[in-house]
Amino acid sequence: MKTVINAVAAVLAVAVISFMLWRTPPPAWTDAEITVLRSLWLESLSALPAAPGNAVADSPAAALFGQKLFFDTRMSANGSISCATCHQPERRFTDGLQKGQAIGTSKRNTPSIVGTAHSPWLYWDGRRDSQWSQALSPLEDSSEHATDRTRVVRLIAQDENYRATYESLFGALPELAKADEPAVNTVFANVGKSIAAFERTIMPTTSRFDRFVAAVADGDVEAQALLFTDDEKWGLRIFIGAGNCTQCHNGPLFTNNEFHNTGVISFSGEVPDKGRVVGIKQLLTNEFNCLGQYSDDANQQCAELIFARTGVELIGAFRTPSLRNLEHTAPFMHKGQIATIAAVLRHYNEAPDAMIGHNEAQPLGLSARELRQLEAFLKTLAAPVARLPAMIGGD
Ligand code: HEC
Ligand code: HEC
Repeated sequence: MKTVINAVAAVLAVAVISFMLWRTPPPAWTDAEITVLRSLWLESLSALPAAPGNAVADSPAAALFGQKLFFDTRMSANGSISCATCHQPERRFTDGLQKGQAIGTSKRNTPSIVGTAHSPWLYWDGRRDSQWSQALSPLEDSSEHATDRTRVVRLIAQDENYRATYESLFGALPELAKADEPAVNTVFANVGKSIAAFERTIMPTTSRFDRFVAAVADGDVEAQALLFTDDEKWGLRIFIGAGNCTQCHNGPLFTNNEFHNTGVISFSGEVPDKGRVVGIKQLLTNEFNCLGQYSDDANQQCAELIFARTGVELIGAFRTPSLRNLEHTAPFMHKGQIATIAAVLRHYNEAPDAMIGHNEAQPLGLSARELRQLEAFLKTLAAPVARLPAMIGGD
């Protein structure tokens, strides 16, 4: 009888202790942790980096023109595709699909364009080095808009409003019949520069996480408790600690804008994507890159491009995506291989060997409960997108 009572008492004690641990609120943040939290805070985002290659980058008139172009389906082979077909404002400028769908199917997943004005590289493989040069590629991509630069220039010339706006921003359009290749390319590049001026206005806004960091910075414990559950606090602690996520997802946009191989598996039957190692080669030969004649940068220093890494460590490496707004941007990864946040976290927990190159992430060994906490934290990063007031769609 006595042994039974002892056994019951022991079981009860274990249950009580586990329950207490289960309920344990996280300890107060250390100064070192507060420094990390502040570095992830939207308030720490630097001013928009200058875009010396784009003379109209900060012109509101160019941004409005770019906004019209962004939603204009006439710049496509079948008259029904615009940038917003795939970059839908209400989905934080993504499309909810594994791979972009327009005239055909894109090779990769449609990334959000929110905050990309802060990135020196565009595309999963960074094959463009400015927003304006990036904006030109989908227009001529046979599976996206499938039009060409001559047709784009003709549209600008033939639409009365576009023509007037274009000429007020960039000067007289060349006479089409006589336009040589550089003249057509200049107009085409200016279309990209206007779209980029619009894209520069697409920024993240304050999320619950940012309000939480403000409360931490103020030492306001009550506000912290109102803003974050204990699970979300534990999740944040894992994000900046045991999960090692801030090795790559750092700064206020949760990206280091660098390229890494994280061992994401290809779809079966698909050749693994080589990623950055090919992207940098394509960028170096792109006529609209920083060193090209269509850049407005008189000094053309282009240090990022000239000193970009090109080595084999970039096989299977992709640009670290921002983690703000994950709730609106599934599916995830460069080909939309992973459907949910929970499945992404399982992927990191296991850190499988890469199919090509080398997975830089290490297995984490987190428990199911810790993975749920990490997911709860990631969801606190959602917030509406800042945009021009007149923009179609939205939240
Ligand atoms: C068919 C759907 C589709 C259309 C139409 C489309 N895009 Fe994209 N966009 C994508 C895909 C897919 C990627 C990623 C491709 C890659 O990385 O190889 C992408 C990448 C981007 C990026 C890079 C974002 C980043 O995080 O690196 C920007 C910016 C962008 N597109 C803007 C535009 C603009 C501007 C237009 C219109 C001129 C446009 N897109 C038209 C599907 C589309
Ligand atoms: C070594 C750098 C690195 C580390 C460490 C890392 N990530 Fe990533 N993360 C990336 C890269 C690169 C991608 C895109 C990979 C791809 O598409 O092949 C990515 C993709 C993601 C995505 C998908 C986002 C999208 O829009 O598709 C999520 C979510 C994510 N990471 C969360 C995390 C979390 C949480 C951690 C910590 C447990 C973490 N990452 C650790 C570099 C890293």
